[in-house]
Amino acid sequence: MNKDEVIIREVMLRDGLQNIPEFIPTEAKIELFRLIVASGLRNLEVTSFVSPKAIPQFQDAAQMARAVLKMKPEGVEVSALVPNLRGAQLAAESGMRNIGFVMSVSESHNISNVRRTTAESMEEMKKIVELKGKYPDLEVKAGMATVFGCPFEGKIKPEVTLGFIRQFYQLGLRHMSLADTVGFGNPKEVQETCRLCVTEFPDVKFSIHMHNTRGLGLANSLAAYEAGIRIHDGAVGGLGGCPFAPGAKGNTSTEDLVFMFEEMGVKTGVNMDALLEASRYFQKVKKDVRYSSSIIEVGVPVPKGPITKDGYEQKWNM
Ligand code: COA
Ligand code: ZN
Repeated sequence: MNKDEVIIREVMLRDGLQNIPEFIPTEAKIELFRLIVASGLRNLEVTSFVSPKAIPQFQDAAQMARAVLKMKPEGVEVSALVPNLRGAQLAAESGMRNIGFVMSVSESHNISNVRRTTAESMEEMKKIVELKGKYPDLEVKAGMATVFGCPFEGKIKPEVTLGFIRQFYQLGLRHMSLADTVGFGNPKEVQETCRLCVTEFPDVKFSIHMHNTRGLGLANSLAAYEAGIRIHDGAVGGLGGCPFAPGAKGNTSTEDLVFMFEEMGVKTGVNMDALLEASRYFQKVKKDVRYSSSIIEVGVPVPKGPITKDGYEQKWNM
């Protein structure tokens, strides 16, 4: 992809919902999917094939996958998160052909999140890749959590992440995601790490997944963009957060990401009004949801028009 466009990958239906304890009815999730697609977003993570005991919100994962795949929206890539082989099998059985396996580059967060050491998760990934024998069109993405810091271990050295990337590469994986799960990253180190990744692996499609925990989500995305990363995760309303990472907060808001890139002349293909309709819809479904998005709060800038000295008072009273 050239510098003039980015893909915003919408993760609200997965990351955004996983931190909401109350079950959101499947019909509402499907309607949200429809509205998000209508806004022009073409890449959506729609659910998570995790243990319903760990995250009851996704007890309807198979139902959700089947429903949205049946809608077959043209040119839309639908994916799901999986934490283990069982999840990958269930996803594939539901017709899902794009799955994102998640493991943390931090040992402690991996144990907290999926109850496995990173070596055990890597073994799980090997078995998931072998599923391609049964499902040849299965696309597997390697999602790495806590790349820019872990709530238990603090900063993670880029070399640790690169070590995992090398292993994934050897397994034949060519799509990988770098996540700042708890918002520890800053633009300088995000840019440095991303540059190391794209330089060593020019044929890997990297995506970035930022949480705006400390207000650096957009700056970190921009830093990754400048390092050459063209796939950026966002969540409608800035919702999201990992329930197994203390202090985790929402993803960078899709509305704010779209605004930033479009204002810079970088095409996202998203219609902001339609996107805001999706956010308004979910606010009706879940009335007490707290969005974290500047664009939802204040809208896009609309100049009120020039003022004259005579008209000054009226302008301010508008
Ligand atoms: N989907 C549905 N059910 C699953 C499953 C999956 N992917 N993986 C395991 N299970 C079920 C098993 O069948 C078993 O069910 P049972 O108790 O009825 O027999 C139960 O869950 C325990 O299985 P086990 O393999 O021992 O898993 P675990 O208890 O060690 O939990 C995970 C491991 C990964 C499944 C669980 O921790 C999990 O789902 N975590 C979610 C992590 C997450 O989504 N984090 C946020 C995103 S980054
Ligand atoms: Zn996340």
